[in-house]
Parts: sequence; C-alpha cells; structure tokens
Amino acid sequence: MAWIDVADRAALARSGRREVEAAGIALLLYDLEGALYATSAICPHHAAWLSQGSVEGEIVNCPRHMGQFHIPTGRQLRGPACPDLRTYPVREEGGRIWIELP
Ligand code: FES
Repeated sequence: MAWIDVADRAALARSGRREVEAAGIALLLYDLEGALYATSAICPHHAAWLSQGSVEGEIVNCPRHMGQFHIPTGRQLRGPACPDLRTYPVREEGGRIWIELP
C-alpha cells in the first residue's frame, strides 16, 4: 500500500469531480460539499467511464446501463448485476489530494 499525490485540492473544489490516473489505475475524485472520495473511474459492469455519468448527492450514475453506485462505499444501488464499485482511501495534505493504492 502506498499513498500517492494525485491532484490539486483547489482544482477539485472548483470542479467537484475529476478523473485522474495513478499507478496505472483510472480514478474518479469527488468533492461532495467538502467531503473527499475516490472511486474507480470505470464501471464494474461493462467498463463505461463514470466520469461521463452524472452525480446526484452521494450517487454516481453510469451513463451506459444506468447503474447507480453509492460514492462513499461503492455499493451498487441499482442496475445490472455486477460487483460494487471499488473505492480508495483519500486524504488532503499540503493542498494536495492523496490516494492510498494497493
Ligand atoms: S457499464 Fe455501467 S451499468 Fe453497465
């Protein structure tokens, strides 16, 4: 496990959501009213890019088959059968966002 610097905190605050790549993993970062989260950027069903979906509160909607995932836990709430969305520990330090990757 290693913590990796992946993004500028202020930039995420402005956009609310940002796709980044770290150690070969596509990640989606979220700032939900000041709370930081990180998930895989790729839907666990058929690999659609979740950055192209919408976010409603703590839910990210997959643009391909309308799957819904709870951002803080990754739990699937609706959609075709598939594993939950992978989530990653995230923290802020020195104005940067850090993600813990396996
Ligand atoms: S690819 Fe996301 S629900 Fe099918």
